[in-house]
This record gives sequence, structure tokens and C-alpha cells, in this order.
Amino acid sequence: MKDLALHILDIVHNAISAKATLIEVDIRESEKEDILTLVIKDNGRGIAPKMLETVTDAYTTTRTTRKVGMGLPLLRQNAEQSGGGISVESEVDKGTTVTAKFGLQHIDRPPLGEISGVMVDLAASRTEVEFVYRHTTSVESYCFDTREVKEALDGMPMADAQMRRYLISMIDENLDEIKATR
Ligand SMILES: Nc1ncnc2c1ncn2[C@@H]1O[C@H](COP(=O)(O)OP(=O)(O)OP(=O)(O)O)[C@@H](O)[C@H]1O
Ligand SMILES: [Mg+2]
Repeated sequence: MKDLALHILDIVHNAISAKATLIEVDIRESEKEDILTLVIKDNGRGIAPKMLETVTDAYTTTRTTRKVGMGLPLLRQNAEQSGGGISVESEVDKGTTVTAKFGLQHIDRPPLGEISGVMVDLAASRTEVEFVYRHTTSVESYCFDTREVKEALDGMPMADAQMRRYLISMIDENLDEIKATR
């Protein structure tokens, strides 16, 4: 079963294929409601209304190499299995927002996974795209924003192995600090 970080990687790849230049990943944990909400928002080319109706079905794809697209259907399946669901909003030439809700303490909720590594590797390999990862718990909110990181690094490459390790541990320490549920 895919963890949340791998689902995020899948959905972010859809946004990159749609030529997005800003991709925002937002995770919100509500202990009170027992819900984990994942929102992935992009400013890419969007999805036409007709296609939007069936976009979370396995047979909806603009892939040419195979006839099924699995990114959104698998996310939907995992969300539904943990007592939640997904919704996709989109406007052509404006962008797309995918929202998935999971039962926070549900036994079938996928664990968070290696979210720090996924975000740093995306940022380092797609330097033309800006990424924002925000994680909010009942303690506090943490935000990793590649626009700020790039400014702080002042030209030093994120793909450098030592830099990669540094950024990953920085995110992990911040997630520990806000007591993010893994
Ligand atoms: N953020 C997005 N922006 C524009 N179009 C999107 C976006 N996300 C999904 N789509 C459209 O919806 C289709 C289905 O997406 P989905 O991730 O389920 O499958 P896929 O990307 O086609 O295949 P796979 O994820 O298995 O490689 C895509 O082919 C694409 O046309
Ligand atoms: Mg996909």
C-alpha cells in the first residue's frame, strides 16, 4: 500500500505534467474531528469539465502508453478505505486542486511516509517549479517553501548530497517539533 508521501509524489507529477509552476501541498491534522486533510493545489493547465466528472475513475487518462491512469483512483481508494474520500476541483488554464480526507486514527490510513525526502527531491530535480509544503497540527504549523529556501541558499544547489541531507533533516526536525502524526 502506498503511503501518503508516495501518493503526494503521484499527484504532484500530474501537476508537473500539466505545466504547473507553483505546487502547494497542504496537510492538516484535526485531532478533534479525527481527520487528516491533504490538499494539493497547482496552477497548471487544468482539467476540462467533461473529463473532471470521471477523473477519479481508473479509465480516465490522457496517457498514451496505457489506457488506465491510477494516480487519482488509488488515492481515492485509500482515502475511502480510511473513512474519507477525495474531490477534485479544476478550472481550465487556472489550475487544479485535489483534496483527500482520511480518518486520522483510522487503522487503514496510510502512514505519512518519507515526505521530507519526497519534497526535497522534487524541489532539487524540478528547480523551475516552486513547491510549498505546509503541515498543520494542533500544536503549530510548519511551512517549507522553495522560494524562501532558494533565497537562503543563494545559488547553492539543492541537489548536492550534503545539502539534500541537511534539508531533509531540517524538515523532519520541524515535523517532530509540531508533533506531526507519522
Ligand atoms: N493536476 C492536474 N492537472 C491537469 N490534468 C490532470 C491533473 N491531474 C490529473 N489530470 C488528468 O487526469 C488524468 C488522470 O490522472 P491520474 O493520475 O489518475 O492518471 P494518469 O496520470 O493518467 O496515469 P498515472 O498516474 O497512472 O501515471 C491524467 O491523465 C490527466 O489528463
Ligand atoms: Mg497521474
